[in-house]
Formats: sequence, structure tokens, C-alpha cells
Amino acid sequence: MKKGISTPSGSCYSFIFIFCLLLFHGLSSVNGDSSGDTTVNIGAIVNANSRIGKEQKLAIEIAVQNFNNNSTNKNPNRTYKLVLHVRDSDRDPLQAASAADELINKHQVQAILGMETWQETALVAQVGNRAQVPVLSMATSSASASLTSMQWPFLVRMSNNGSTQMKCVADIVQVYQWKRVITISEDDTYGSDSGMVDLLSNALRAVGSEIEYRMALPPLSSLSDPKATIRHGLEKLRSKQLRVFILVQSSLPFVTHLFTEAKEMGLMEKESVWIITDAVTSVLDSVNSSVISSMQGVLGIKTHFSYSSPLFKEFYSEFKRKFRSRYPEEDYFEPGIYALRAHDIISTLTRAMMEKSTSNSSTSIVLLEKILSTDFNGFSGEIRFTDGELSISPIFQIVNVFGKSYKELDFWSSDIGFFKNLGEKSGGGRTLRTKEGLIGPVNWPGGLQRAPLGWGFPSNGELMRIGVPGKTSFQKFVKVEDNENKRTFTGFCIDIFQAAFPNRTNDYSLLYEFVPFHGLYDELVEQVYYQVMNPSLKTSTSAY
Ligand SMILES: *[C@@H]1O[C@H](CO)[C@@H](O)[C@H](O)[C@H]1NC(C)=O
Ligand SMILES: *[C@@H]1O[C@H](CO)[C@@H](O)[C@H](O)[C@H]1NC(C)=O
Ligand SMILES: *[C@@H]1O[C@H](CO)[C@@H](O)[C@H](O)[C@H]1NC(C)=O
Ligand SMILES: *[C@@H]1O[C@H](CO)[C@@H](O)[C@H](O)[C@H]1NC(C)=O
Ligand SMILES: *[C@@H]1O[C@H](CO)[C@@H](O)[C@H](O)[C@H]1NC(C)=O
Ligand SMILES: *[C@@H]1O[C@H](CO)[C@@H](O)[C@H](O)[C@H]1NC(C)=O
Ligand SMILES: *[C@@H]1O[C@H](CO)[C@@H](O)[C@H](O)[C@H]1NC(C)=O
Repeated sequence: MKKGISTPSGSCYSFIFIFCLLLFHGLSSVNGDSSGDTTVNIGAIVNANSRIGKEQKLAIEIAVQNFNNNSTNKNPNRTYKLVLHVRDSDRDPLQAASAADELINKHQVQAILGMETWQETALVAQVGNRAQVPVLSMATSSASASLTSMQWPFLVRMSNNGSTQMKCVADIVQVYQWKRVITISEDDTYGSDSGMVDLLSNALRAVGSEIEYRMALPPLSSLSDPKATIRHGLEKLRSKQLRVFILVQSSLPFVTHLFTEAKEMGLMEKESVWIITDAVTSVLDSVNSSVISSMQGVLGIKTHFSYSSPLFKEFYSEFKRKFRSRYPEEDYFEPGIYALRAHDIISTLTRAMMEKSTSNSSTSIVLLEKILSTDFNGFSGEIRFTDGELSISPIFQIVNVFGKSYKELDFWSSDIGFFKNLGEKSGGGRTLRTKEGLIGPVNWPGGLQRAPLGWGFPSNGELMRIGVPGKTSFQKFVKVEDNENKRTFTGFCIDIFQAAFPNRTNDYSLLYEFVPFHGLYDELVEQVYYQVMNPSLKTSTSAY
């Protein structure tokens, strides 16, 4: 795969390489001691074309620059200077891994940070682990931290695990009592990772719901005709009765494509429910108005952070100014959670570095130990690690796409459930409002005034069959006539029905045909039970 790593003789090289690296670290520290100046190379791997990557890159650069320009960063007699090397992964794990290899071998970086996806993180962690270089990743993962910290001791996960967020999704599903849901995910470049969907499945089972259908589509970047592939997938979903869709593990470009098609195909209508997760909601501000208009009524989960610290305000305005001039093609310039985490990674690293210098040993193991024992208040929240993963459980905010942007609804934390004001959190106790649902109020898809049922009429080309009494004594109400080759249904009841349910082909609402039935009313009703009237609606006919 990569030179010096996977071939049998490669392990020998990498041993020598690690030895040299340790020697180099030692030397650089010795130099530092004599001159009072230590240069520290660090590497960053980001997806330069994604919104998340752009935020990460700029935030890291600002944090590094501010650190280098801060005269108090002497400990106590030595000045540190960070030299940043940024590489683009293009969301490709192999490209990320070879970048990591190059950063370590050519630039002797002492830490690697960034990474948007777990796949990139896993390969970079592998490379970093062999060279004993700490890797600080921002990707969320379903993998258990206690396992990954054993597999890759040099990996530091600057993110929360996925299980808390999936619990939040399950709580939303529970308050509205949707019994079955559909998940949609975008596969990663090298295959699927169903871990997050599995976590959701467990969380849903705990609240009495289940995933009825899992749809995974290939990664957007691999598709020659994304529109056709996404339409094809959605077509399959449209033929089902279920209308609760949860988007797990998808990139922003995938999600924008998906909603554009879903809207056109009538899947954003009344009774539908769409839930998106943090990785997309956190960058929702950067989405343009035509995409937002196709996402009306979507619920999103977003990691909450506080704007209050004075240092944050400084960073915030600097970020905004620089982001605007560097990325004029974007039309939203404020930093999101990924920018803040990126900034906090640099803080974590510099704190650890300065502490390290008070220790006698200068190996990367000491640096790692110092990173893992970090404990401070960063811009994104409290930074503390357990098993190499952020250990402070996040507070999420539920948002609701509405109008030109979105509304912020309730907060959620795993110990309390939903709550309205942040002050409430200190109250303690779990006050999940199972009856009322979110305090909201929620703007549902299609402008529905109540909570959606989460199911709709399937439209797989099959017509719903509406039974009509064939012979009645009151023909003003219903009259069935057979003329030549045409059968007509007329009368007051038919008019009312057609006014209430137009037989429309342009959305999924209802496509039906009238079927005359000759028999008693009771027998007619029985046909519904026997599924003669609509074979595709299975046993839940009582709901109709
Ligand atoms: C460095 O800091 C000084 C004073 O704190 C400030 O005036 C100067 O603009 C800063 N330089 C950069 C490049 O940020
Ligand atoms: C400079 O560094 C010190 C110590 O790390 C920190 O307390 C201070 O806030 C920093 N100043 C700025 C402007 O970042
Ligand atoms: C820092 O430098 C001063 C004067 O050069 C010296 O007295 C002091 O011991 C140094 N401190 C450390 C921790 O090396
Ligand atoms: C909005 O964004 C989508 C996806 O990024 C893009 O395809 C579309 O052309 C944009 N529309 C406008 C009006 O900028
Ligand atoms: C660190 O160095 C000091 C003096 O150089 C020595 O007394 C101490 O034992 C060393 N500590 C460790 C843990 O090696
Ligand atoms: C996920 O993180 C939370 C804290 O944020 C922790 O309590 C929980 O045990 C973690 N779950 C796993 C599977 O690591
Ligand atoms: C409803 O529309 C479908 C498709 O256009 C058609 O086959 C069906 O006969 C129509 N039903 C009624 C009652 O007009």
C-alpha cells in the first residue's frame, strides 16, 4: 500500500525510521535548550473542498498564528514556534494516509490533526501509530473508544462518539411515537460502515421503535450520474408506506442532492418526517436558499456551543473576516463547531507541548500522555479525554428548517432529555415530555399543523382501490354506469371524495381507481380486511 509499511521488510524500515525519528526528536529538543527556541512541525489533513475542511483549515491557521505571536508562550525560558503543513485528503482515506506518511517522513511532524471521516482517521491513525506520532481526529465514530484506544494508542478522538447523538434521534422518534423508520446513508469510499446505523438501531429498540429499511447509496464522488442514482434510491423508498427518514452518515453535498430530488418526488409532503444529524446540521448555514427551500420542515441535531468567552469573540471576528476574503464563493462566514474544535486541537497540542518541556523525557509518548491528560475549557466546550475520546457529553440543539433558514427548538442532553432553556440543565432529572413532544413548535413538511403520522400512501404505480357500492337506491349519492367501453362513477359521495382526495399523479398523495362492489355494506368493509381493496397496504388497515 504505502512504502515502508505493508511489505514484510517494510516493518524493518519503519523500525529504523521510528528510531531515527526518536533521535530527531531528541536532537531538536537539545537544540531548543541551547538556543531557547524550539520549532515544532505539525501536520493537518483536511478535505480542502468541503465546508467542514475549509473551516478546519482556517481555524487551525488562525490558532497557530496566534500562538506563534503570543509572547507569553515561553515555558519559562523557551519559545515555541509551530510550523504548520496542510494537506488535502479530498475525503479519500488512501490520499489521507499517504499525506500522513509524507508529513511524518519528510517534515518530521510531531502531531497530525484534522480528518473529516472515520475512514480517513482509521488509516491515518494506523500510519501515526507505527511512527508513534499522535493523531488528533475530529471525525465522529461509532467505534468503541476503549477498542480504538487499544488498537491505535496514538489516536486522540477530538469528538464525541456517535451513541449519544443516536440516543437523541431515538428520543425524538419516541416523543412522536413513530414505530418504524427508514435510514439513508452515504457509503464511504471503500465500502459501507453500518456502525452508526447499528447504534441507532439499538437506541430505537430501547424506545420501542425499529429500523424497517436501511438504504445505503454509493459515495457521491463515485457517481457518474448522482441525480439518477439518488432518484432511483428514492423511488424505492417512495413505494413504501413509511415516511420517517433518518439521514445517518452523509456528506453535505450528498444531502443537498438528496433533498432536491426528494422535494421533486413529493417526499417532502405532509406526513413525512426527515431527521438530519450533526455533521450536516452544523454546516447548514452554508447551504443556499434553493436547497433550503427543498428542506422545509426537516429536523436537525446540532452540537451546541457557547459564544460567551472574550477570547472566542476575538477569534470569531478574525475568522469571519478571513473566511470571507479567502472563500468569496461561500456566502456564510461564521465558524461552526468544526472550526471551534480545530482551534481547540491546537490549544490542546500547545498546552501539552509546553507541559512536556518541563519533563525530562522528550519523546512523543510524553507528548501523547500530556495530550490525553488535558483538561481545560476550549471554545467548543470542556476538553477532557477518556479512552482517547472527548469525555464530556455534548448538549445538542434541535433545529427545524423553516423559511430561509432554520429555527432553534429545544436543547437535549443525555441525562435530561429535552429542555427549553440552558439554565434548566442544572436542574437535573430526566424530564422527557413523551406526551407533548418537543416544545417546538415544529414546522412540519408540507405545512402540516400537527405531528406527522410518519406514513403515507405508497406510490409504486399501483392504484389504491376504492370500493363503491355497485347498486344503490339513492343514485344522487352514488351511481355506477357502464356505457359502451367506459364505466362512470357519479353522485354526491363521489364528488365529495374527489374534492377531498384529488386523483393526482404529481405527488404521492393518492392515486386511486373506483371499483364497483355488489354486496352488502358489511361485506364491502370486509374487503378492506381481506386486502382486496388495496393489496399493498398490509395489516395496518385499521389505521385508515
Ligand atoms: C502579533 O501581536 C501583536 C500584539 O499582540 C499585534 O499587534 C500584531 O498585529 C500581531 N501580528 C500578527 C501577525 O497577528
Ligand atoms: C497567550 O498565551 C497565554 C498563555 O498560554 C494565554 O493565557 C493568553 O490568553 C494568550 N493570549 C492570546 C491573545 O491568545
Ligand atoms: C530561566 O532563565 C533564568 C535566567 O536565565 C534562570 O535563572 C532560570 O533558572 C531559568 N528557568 C528554568 C526553569 O530553566
Ligand atoms: C445551490 O447549491 C446547490 C448545491 O450546492 C447547487 O447545485 C445550486 O446550483 C445552488 N443554487 C444556487 C441558486 O446557487
Ligand atoms: C529529571 O531530571 C532531574 C535533574 O536533571 C532529575 O533529578 C530527575 O530525577 C529526573 N526525573 C526523571 C523522571 O527522570
Ligand atoms: C460515548 O460517550 C459517552 C460520553 O460522551 C460515554 O458515556 C459512553 O460510554 C460512550 N460510549 C461508547 C460506546 O464509548
Ligand atoms: C386516477 O389516475 C390514474 C392514473 O392517471 C388512472 O388510471 C385512474 O383511472 C384514475 N382514477 C379515477 C377514479 O379517475
